[in-house]
Amino acid sequence: MAPSLAIEVNGMKFENPFVLGSGPPGTNARVIARSYDLGWGGMVCKTISLDASKVINTNPRYGKLRSREKGEVVGFENIELISDRPFDAWLDDLRQLKKNYPSKILIASIMEEYRKEAWQEITRRVQETGIDGFELNLSCPHGLPERKMGMAMGENPDMVEEVTGWVMEVAKKPVWAKMTPNVGNPATPALAAIKGGANGISTINTILSVIGVDLKTLRPMPTVEGYTVPGGYSGQAVKPIALRHVMEIARAKPGVEISGIGGIETGRDAAEFMLMGASTVQICTGAMLRGYEIIDELKADLTAFMASHNFENLRQFIGKSLEYFSTHHDLVDRQKANREKTAAARGAVRAGKDAETWQGQIAKETDELAAN
Ligand SMILES: Cc1cc2nc3c(=O)[nH]c(=O)nc-3n(C[C@H](O)[C@H](O)[C@H](O)COP(=O)(O)O)c2cc1C
Repeated sequence: MAPSLAIEVNGMKFENPFVLGSGPPGTNARVIARSYDLGWGGMVCKTISLDASKVINTNPRYGKLRSREKGEVVGFENIELISDRPFDAWLDDLRQLKKNYPSKILIASIMEEYRKEAWQEITRRVQETGIDGFELNLSCPHGLPERKMGMAMGENPDMVEEVTGWVMEVAKKPVWAKMTPNVGNPATPALAAIKGGANGISTINTILSVIGVDLKTLRPMPTVEGYTVPGGYSGQAVKPIALRHVMEIARAKPGVEISGIGGIETGRDAAEFMLMGASTVQICTGAMLRGYEIIDELKADLTAFMASHNFENLRQFIGKSLEYFSTHHDLVDRQKANREKTAAARGAVRAGKDAETWQGQIAKETDELAAN
């Protein structure tokens, strides 16, 4: 049987797990419709708030890190804020999208100030449009924390639990809480969101960064009238960090639905996130750099991966690689046991020598570990 990419998550039926992440790929109904036409399984719209007049973007607001050899973009920084489009325009867009694409998954990314009435008002008004779910942006790292929004909430587990709880009191649709990676232990805020009632976790948002310094002008980039602020890092370079965040959360709360985000550009990247426990994946920078058309390639690559392992559906391998995480001490023990087994197979006299050598090496490594 050909592998199926369809998956149901928190009652939402995705025809495939590829979701466009919140950001420029979902700025209005026209571009969202185009992504549906091309075959994306779902979409998280650009984050919206009740009063867009407070959102003022700068130009430039992007910076790129290129590989030394081929010059391709491997890392991307932005200092872009949430959507600056009026709230009512968004409500019209969301309503129209659900009317024209009833079977496509539409998730509304919402953000508000630290006030219960504001979070509950935005939740109520947005869900009247018929959207399928919410993503709470508790994680934008730049600009909005100055107004105690975004990451200012996401890095504080008490606030995460409280704000999620406010939304859950009025939400009639599934809610994913989107996490910031700019914390020490990713599981702490994720568990707080789940305690507050969140149905799933989206991770990661961007990583605080300084993309570089112009060596002619000595100004850090992206430079706006000579100055800058630290921005959010995304793209290929963040993938290892994102994989770790998904893994930590999946291990801390087995079975929780995770939407994996960060540096995904191929179907094989997506498979890695799923092996770490993600049931859907989101792509933002990859679609900005390579276009919405990558969806065909993403689906084909993931299908080929599944076929090569005889997986018929996504649930068969979601979280499958988590069991291979252990402690360093255990790795040393396993290595030692394996070396001893190999040495034993080589013969008693030789074995004694090898084991001595390896035991010496292992003892040294263990001492070094203790010293660190
Ligand atoms: C230009 C830009 C704008 C973004 N705007 C938002 C946003 O409005 N809300 C949000 O939750 N995440 C936003 N993000 C974060 C992405 O959704 C995503 O979490 C992050 O970029 C990592 O994924 P990626 O490497 O696929 O881009 C933005 C990212 C970029 C690059």
